[in-house]
Amino acid sequence: MRLERRALLRFLGASPVLTALAPWTRAFSEERLPASAAEALDVFELEALAQRVVPPAHWGYLQSGVDGDVTLSANHAAYARYQLRARRLVDVSHVDLSIEVLGIKAASPIGCWPIGSLRALNPEGDIAVARATKKKNALHIMSTQASFPVEEINAARGAPVWYQLYTTNQFQVTKTLVKRAEAAGCPVVAVTVDTPAGRNTETAARLRRADTRTCSSCHSVDEHGYPRANLSTKPMFSGIDTQGLGLTQASLTWDFVKRLKDVTKMKVVLKGIESAEDAALAVQNGADGIIVSNHGGRSIESGRATIESLPEVVQGAAGRIPVLVDGGVRRGTDVFKALALGASAVGIGRPYAWGLAAFGQDGVERVLDILNLELRLAMVGCGARTVREITAATIIDSGRIPA
Ligand SMILES: Cc1cc2nc3c(=O)[nH]c(=O)nc-3n(C[C@H](O)[C@H](O)[C@H](O)COP(=O)(O)O)c2cc1C
Repeated sequence: MRLERRALLRFLGASPVLTALAPWTRAFSEERLPASAAEALDVFELEALAQRVVPPAHWGYLQSGVDGDVTLSANHAAYARYQLRARRLVDVSHVDLSIEVLGIKAASPIGCWPIGSLRALNPEGDIAVARATKKKNALHIMSTQASFPVEEINAARGAPVWYQLYTTNQFQVTKTLVKRAEAAGCPVVAVTVDTPAGRNTETAARLRRADTRTCSSCHSVDEHGYPRANLSTKPMFSGIDTQGLGLTQASLTWDFVKRLKDVTKMKVVLKGIESAEDAALAVQNGADGIIVSNHGGRSIESGRATIESLPEVVQGAAGRIPVLVDGGVRRGTDVFKALALGASAVGIGRPYAWGLAAFGQDGVERVLDILNLELRLAMVGCGARTVREITAATIIDSGRIPA
């Protein structure tokens, strides 16, 4: 019975007529998946390929949200609430995607945001990503939990990346991390503030059950055989005593921003702000920028998409500091909408990780190319020749998310 069903699905997937009528059939169509990065038509094809090569536990790590993954899904789905307002007969023979944010120039507003343990997806991990962001001159934020040290990532990028900081529960350690990133030339530290005290990554836990490999050959494991967070194995913690060290601290408050600013010359950006009040507090407390983020649906199960939080954060920041955003961006049109709602730059997480898992550096480059092409076409269609011309007037808020 199972076999018959599978055979039917394969037949449906291979049928050109059905594929044209029902695009979802492509999900079944093994033979139509791209054979090289260059052939990938959208980021979802790379997602499908990545799923085939990444072992279940690592796939669960990448794809998981929290609880029932409601916020994770909302992040992408909510982009459909906004529509583009096409404009005609504008001279769009020259379209410029370049931006400058916090004094840093990039070829496009789309950047690769921090993901820890990228070697779980590809042995070259952060280095492959850095080579890709170098080639595309894209913004790049590395994770505190990166698989490679900041010095090697910066060397591969050919210019310093931004450094994402987990605050830790020991300020002396935090200071050591910050000083190291600063010494390596990083211009910006992005402090993640959205996960103060744990989270329930249910999908990750479920997929671990499906993984028959022995985790202890790569990870230290707990009494159930599941990988244990082991900071001492992360390159940024080499030489640091990780006894009793936690990545975050539940008692952290706004005075941390000043404390951090007192020990670094890097610009301080707060990653994980979702409300107008916190945006105003970020300004008051001296932050240099904000990233609207819910950690890709991995912090609390709020059910609220970052694109829906963005307008109030922009309002709270009142033009005093740049507001960037991430979460659920899968199309260049999503990027366009975020820019129209006031974002200065837009980060992606999972999409470049899919590219990395599928084709290494080439896959990351392809993801950036696909999204940049889609963004360019959205700009052409709306008569926006520069990122500055993507204003509130270029989109419409329908006020509802189609089912
Ligand atoms: C597997 C995974 C690991 C992540 N690791 C980090 C991290 O170490 N630090 C951090 O600030 N954010 C981390 N994030 C969040 C991303 O930086 C980003 O906010 C999020 O992935 C954006 O949503 P998207 O994946 O839908 O594009 C991680 C996200 C994923 C999916």
